[in-house]
Amino acid sequence: MPESHFVSPYDAIAALYHRAWDDWYLPAALPALERLFFSELAPGARVLDACCGSGHVTRELVIRGYDVTGLDSSASLIAHARQELPEAKFIIADVRDFSFSEPFNGALSTFDSLNHLLTYTDLCAAFRCVRRTLCTGAPFFFDMNLEEAYEMDLGEWMRCEREGYLGFTRGIYSRATHRARTEIVWFERQQAPTSARNRDRAPAAPMAVRAAEVSEDARLSALNRDRQGADPFDETSGLWRRRDAVVEEQCYTVDEIDEALRRAGFGRIERFSALQAGVTHSIGYGRVFIRAFA
Ligand SMILES: C[S@@+](CC[C@H](N)C(=O)[O-])C[C@H]1O[C@@H](n2cnc3c(N)ncnc32)[C@H](O)[C@@H]1O
Repeated sequence: MPESHFVSPYDAIAALYHRAWDDWYLPAALPALERLFFSELAPGARVLDACCGSGHVTRELVIRGYDVTGLDSSASLIAHARQELPEAKFIIADVRDFSFSEPFNGALSTFDSLNHLLTYTDLCAAFRCVRRTLCTGAPFFFDMNLEEAYEMDLGEWMRCEREGYLGFTRGIYSRATHRARTEIVWFERQQAPTSARNRDRAPAAPMAVRAAEVSEDARLSALNRDRQGADPFDETSGLWRRRDAVVEEQCYTVDEIDEALRRAGFGRIERFSALQAGVTHSIGYGRVFIRAFA
């Protein structure tokens, strides 16, 4: 299948996503993957990871010896995945419009990736593509956020820090349109200058800003959460490159999801709450896990 070329909101935050999201969703969701998906696959099965991101979940498939293909629309996330997992195949493609010549024995799509499809028509198109690419009887496992999860979005900035990176995210949800918007501002530390004099002279990249330019509420929120630690915006800590991204998601009801799966030709459809799936972390709140058979 030829590769497509997209501009994805994830491109701007690919490094942050790869570094900072790896220990969040996956450890919490692993019991569900073990119980409801891996258990259905024969050794060496050919598996598609649809919307694979930078490969956090794909790695678990590779470790278990499956023949893995990851698909994602973000070229930057795919670049990270290719670097980390040379054993797997990766393709830059739109989950709403793809095909493979050889069928898969299973497919998955994790971490509310399918909520990124902003219309019901898009969701149906993605399900159709996945269904077409699966052998008859093969499982498709995915999770999606329901309204309870999005209603937790209170518009407050959350801080996330890794060595050399500092990120802020906030979620805003509209009950009227069922559209969620996550705003992400993050900073990557540039090489610190050796003196204040040099710092002032240091050539700034076009997008480089002093971290103090982050909005005052983000800054205060960071400081309030970490009064014990060093101020990451300390003037002596040099320049930080700023990047911004907005990721939108659409909330669907379980009935809409069921109907879209049936229209795409899936047969048996099973639905699990986070607890039934074995997910006890708060990331499971308002999240539904679905296993549908082609
Ligand atoms: C929250 S991330 C989850 C990534 C990965 N599944 C994981 O568990 O880490 C959502 C992913 O969906 C991808 N995505 C969003 N819309 C897409 C589309 N139309 N086609 C393919 N991938 C898409 C994004 O690029 C991103 O990698």
